[in-house]
Amino acid sequence: MKAAVFHKPGKIQVDTVEDPKILDPGDVILKVTATAICGSDLHILSGAVPQKSNMIMGHEFMGIVEEVGSEVKKLKKGDRVVVPFPIACGHCFFCSHGATPHCENSNYEHYGPNGALTDEKGWALFGYTDLYGGYSGGQAEYVRVPYADISPRIVPDELSDDQVLFLTDIFPTGWSAIDWAQLKGGETVAIFGSGPVGLMAQKAAWINGAARVIAIDPLEYRLKKAREVNNVDTLNPHEVDVIEAIREMTNGRGADVCVEAVGFEPERTMMDKLKATVNFEKGSMKVLDMAFKAVRRGGTVSIMGVYGSTYDNFPLHRVFDKAITIKQGQAPVLNYIDKLIDLVKENKVQLDDIISHTLPLSEAAKGYEIFDKKEDDCVKVVLKP
Ligand SMILES: NC(=O)c1ccc[n+]([C@@H]2O[C@H](COP(=O)([O-])OP(=O)(O)OC[C@H]3O[C@@H](n4cnc5c(N)ncnc54)[C@H](O)[C@@H]3O)[C@@H](O)[C@H]2O)c1
Ligand SMILES: [Zn+2]
Ligand SMILES: [Zn+2]
Repeated sequence: MKAAVFHKPGKIQVDTVEDPKILDPGDVILKVTATAICGSDLHILSGAVPQKSNMIMGHEFMGIVEEVGSEVKKLKKGDRVVVPFPIACGHCFFCSHGATPHCENSNYEHYGPNGALTDEKGWALFGYTDLYGGYSGGQAEYVRVPYADISPRIVPDELSDDQVLFLTDIFPTGWSAIDWAQLKGGETVAIFGSGPVGLMAQKAAWINGAARVIAIDPLEYRLKKAREVNNVDTLNPHEVDVIEAIREMTNGRGADVCVEAVGFEPERTMMDKLKATVNFEKGSMKVLDMAFKAVRRGGTVSIMGVYGSTYDNFPLHRVFDKAITIKQGQAPVLNYIDKLIDLVKENKVQLDDIISHTLPLSEAAKGYEIFDKKEDDCVKVVLKP
């Protein structure tokens, strides 16, 4: 089959590889009908999230069940499913406490209580390096889905692939950011990063009762997209002092909730890069620091962006003085997926309006290139095998 394969930093290409096989009686093999490239994939492409051997990319995918393991009960050949990106066993301590991102069973070799830099990670993800389970991903014609009775969800025939594909990751991720802040209604929510995750958090903020949603991004075309599809206020850090602007909009207090949807590889200056080298840091936590400044006293900062390094000079004094609540981590997709499918079914949210490019899987390398370099007004790339 054909698949988008990571070879080394900077090199992802479509190769012919072996078809996946059922390895465990709880597996299914899926014929992929649509798959997307995620900002998280860019951290692998850049080399910042390390992977030594070749690996099939992709954790946002859906398709038709092609083959069913002997112990699978809920799925049969021909079912059309979306597959949440977490690989969870469904019965361990964490899975049974609503914390599937910490599943004790799916990441056989590199799971542990420590969460260290180079080992003892959490659950496994599809196509997300050996440290996170070493599973092949779904940017491919076929993919093996383990624990198939736990995560995949059958989707209604009347909804197109584009309408439901983002239930696999970015909509539940944006939703988590807002759910973690427990809005009561009427809040101002400032969302740093207006890429796919930021755009989904904007949608979730409105649905959960925000009175004002502010998108922050240095890329004007992404702010334009945010205004068009989500009707939010926008701030470009190249044009205004974002912290001052947010305080002006909130009687000097700051936003009730800030969402960080950028991650540890934001736009960086030479000084940022120098500081990272001197401090042995990867990327930068500058956006997070902005979120701590922009949030009001007693507010919540939800961090959806990936962080993979230690950072000295962490502004703990500010977090203490302002009594900021921080929530962070991989999105617990399974806690939300059924409710979110219903929102799509009932037409209460539109997810496919952020797609800027639909390409055949054979053009995955081009998809990575334009999404990474933010070319051709690229917001979200969907690949069709
Ligand atoms: N926690 C989770 O479960 C989860 C799930 C999916 C993605 N993620 C992570 O979320 C992050 C965003 O993903 P994405 O797909 O939207 O990626 P993306 O790279 O397309 O979006 C990031 C956006 O941040 C903007 N940005 C850069 N510097 C900025 C700054 N100084 N201030 C404000 N915005 C800035 C970029 O212009 C871009 O639009 C990534 O780190 C990704 O790995 C986490
Ligand atoms: Zn993703
Ligand atoms: Zn588990």
